[in-house]
Amino acid sequence: MRCPNCQTNNPEQAKFCMNCGYALAATVHATDRGIDSVQVKDRSLDKFIPQELLTKIQAARAVDAMAGERRVITMLFCDVKGSTAAAEKVDPETWTDIMNGIFEYMIRPIYKYEGTVPRLMGDAILAFFGAPIAHEDDPQRAVLAGLEIQEGIKEYAEEIRLKYGIEFALRVGINTGLVVVGAIGSDLRMEYTAIGDAINLAARMEQTALPSTVQVTEDTYRLVAPFFDFEALGEVEVKGKAAPIKTYRPLGVKKSQGNLRGLEGLTSPLVGREAQLSLLNEQVEQLKIGAGAFVSVIGEAGLGKSTLIAELKKSNEESGIVWLRGDALSYARSVSYFPWRQIIRQSIDAHEDDSPGEVRHKLTYVCDCCTLPGGDIPFLEALLAVESEESLQVVTGFQGEALIQRMVEAVRGYLCGVAKEGPLVIVFDDLHWADAASLNLLFSVADLTDAQPLVFICMLRPDKTAASWDAIHKIQQKVEEQYHSLFLEPLPDEQTDVLLTNLLGVNGLSKNVRDMIVERADGNPFFIEELIRSLIETNQIVRENSHWRAVNEDAKFSLPNTLRGVLGARIDRLPELTKHVLQNAAVIGRSFDLRVLKQLTGLNGSFDSQIQYLKEASLVEPFREEYMFRHVLIQEAAYDSILIKKRVELHKRIAETLEQLHSNRLEEFAPLIAYHFYSGQDPRSLKYDLLAGEKAVRLYANAEAAVHFGRALEVAKRNGSDNLQIASIFTQLGHVLELLGHHQRALATYDEMLAHGRSEHEKVIQLNALMAKATIYSIFSQLHDSALSEQMLIQALEISA
Ligand SMILES: Nc1ncnc2c1ncn2[C@@H]1O[C@H](COP(=O)(O)OP(=O)(O)OP(=O)(O)O)[C@@H](O)[C@H]1O
Ligand SMILES: [Mg+2]
Repeated sequence: MRCPNCQTNNPEQAKFCMNCGYALAATVHATDRGIDSVQVKDRSLDKFIPQELLTKIQAARAVDAMAGERRVITMLFCDVKGSTAAAEKVDPETWTDIMNGIFEYMIRPIYKYEGTVPRLMGDAILAFFGAPIAHEDDPQRAVLAGLEIQEGIKEYAEEIRLKYGIEFALRVGINTGLVVVGAIGSDLRMEYTAIGDAINLAARMEQTALPSTVQVTEDTYRLVAPFFDFEALGEVEVKGKAAPIKTYRPLGVKKSQGNLRGLEGLTSPLVGREAQLSLLNEQVEQLKIGAGAFVSVIGEAGLGKSTLIAELKKSNEESGIVWLRGDALSYARSVSYFPWRQIIRQSIDAHEDDSPGEVRHKLTYVCDCCTLPGGDIPFLEALLAVESEESLQVVTGFQGEALIQRMVEAVRGYLCGVAKEGPLVIVFDDLHWADAASLNLLFSVADLTDAQPLVFICMLRPDKTAASWDAIHKIQQKVEEQYHSLFLEPLPDEQTDVLLTNLLGVNGLSKNVRDMIVERADGNPFFIEELIRSLIETNQIVRENSHWRAVNEDAKFSLPNTLRGVLGARIDRLPELTKHVLQNAAVIGRSFDLRVLKQLTGLNGSFDSQIQYLKEASLVEPFREEYMFRHVLIQEAAYDSILIKKRVELHKRIAETLEQLHSNRLEEFAPLIAYHFYSGQDPRSLKYDLLAGEKAVRLYANAEAAVHFGRALEVAKRNGSDNLQIASIFTQLGHVLELLGHHQRALATYDEMLAHGRSEHEKVIQLNALMAKATIYSIFSQLHDSALSEQMLIQALEISA
């Protein structure tokens, strides 16, 4: 059945669209929830579905991209506790009406925070935050939605209790984790659903939640802890999990929210950024003598925009300047004037829990002090959404453009009034998330900097698709001389090193681990912190007195969930086809040959424009004769999102393409071809690993050679190669390990060779292994043991006899 709302093809018997939750049929049968049937009265839920999401789903379907993706998402389950008992007390038709109402209360907050509802199940819903579109704050959105569901249902539950005498409550469970989303089930069914351990855990959170509460797992808790007040609930046993799971109950949004950024107990003063700080300080100095300015601070997520401005404010604490600040929020883009409200509320000293009356009172007081015209107050009240009855009447007398004009006049007057009292800095953070009304207002007041002691500082990411990008350019043209922009680039390697030392203490890390962090973080301080966090969480870095120490010479990194959000959101912002090209490129590697990529994607005409798009989005850049990902972590995030079986297929195709393309330079490309055949689980990797290994030996690149021979050995054994070949690879591997000084590993290799020789009854192999072992024990190394060496030789003699 085709969904009239989003055009998805659903199975004939589907009652709700699997993509958008649209009611397709008049009756929904509960399967496992003990309710006989639920009549769906109207099909109005679709009106809550965000348009952006619908467009994205349609586009994804067009390029068949929904064939499955690996994603870290936040899942929310919500069900009606006591529904069976409640349903028995009333007529089924009445219960159906009640359930329809409950569904509406469950679903409305989900869509408000741009989640999706892939499944309704009798008396429960499942919602995803992070699929098909990722937001970097998906876990936060899920918890907000969960709290709002509980808050919103109270009134309805009371209404039902009074009307029918039945009581019910909702339970909400939330978990964040890796799942596969997309086409699962038989080939004909394009089902947008998710499978994985993480989803079962979310269901478990719901089943064990106390009625009328939200329960989250530790994985979600860690990603949202600074934003909500929580009660720790202890541990819950979960089937299939060895250890119990720690769970938490969010109680509400924190009054003063913390920061997810930064590492507890690890701090660093601002590193670098001297030029930017000095330009900003110059503007502040000018402000003290009455000159205004408009400054935009532009940089990718995590490069330190907010940190820079915090530093600026700190160094001007004593200057008598008033600082006001508004933060745009990614999930508040539909709230008009959101950052402006914060700015004006701060300027009148309105508190979070002030009633609308108190806010009006404070506003009037400040307006009186600044001798502002009383006629402006209703418009300021409207902007703050605290208008009185009388103000409402005044405001509704204006409509459309006329109303906006009056609002602008009121705010202009207000800012002039406040600036008259003393110099003023107004900071907008995360302007890329600002709502359209806020941007228009900013444009309309930007020229006040010409004559007022007023500096605007706007921080934004260089997202050219965001409305803020155009707005800033229009402002630049408008205010001309007052306009300054600062671009934050990644920190150079030396500064990254300083930052690492500041955070972890001197000499804490081996050069190897340091280099690995520096390379992967690409000069982004936020990435550095998150990489360190994941090393601490996986006990690869441990505290030792005043500094931190790496446990091993090497480190194993997996992409931290905090970074997945930021990077995933950036990838999901791409048009579907471009994202598909990016994912394919990620399988080729950090740098990629366009000819290979073109063949892989099967695109002809539009290929160049896709690459252009990726270049403009600063995701890839030309590199020698190829292209490369600007951030290794973006490549990793894109790679991680591809289904494993799809990756295997792509690797194999890449190897074949490289083989074809470089047929006359096979030795040169052998390492690359070997890697892709190996990752594509294709035994042809053996030939290329041997070729690459032998070449590496000739160049004395023994570490590389060891990797190639190691893989070659694994494949040769798996594919039943002849014993002569296997023995020869054992010897080659053992030899390079010896050259590398890894005698223990070399010994283990020869032991394995000996065992192989014994099981195959191959005396020559056994003999060679014993001779090699004897040599290792005889040379001067940590393993030197002449008795053991002799023993090996005696055994060898016995075999050869
Ligand atoms: N120059 C720096 N020296 C030391 N630490 C830094 C520096 N820049 C950023 N950091 C640290 O890196 C983290 C990320 O910085 P910040 O939050 O300021 O980035 P941002 O550019 O504002 O990112 P977003 O666009 O996501 O808001 C913070 O925890 C901050 O302490
Ligand atoms: Mg910031």
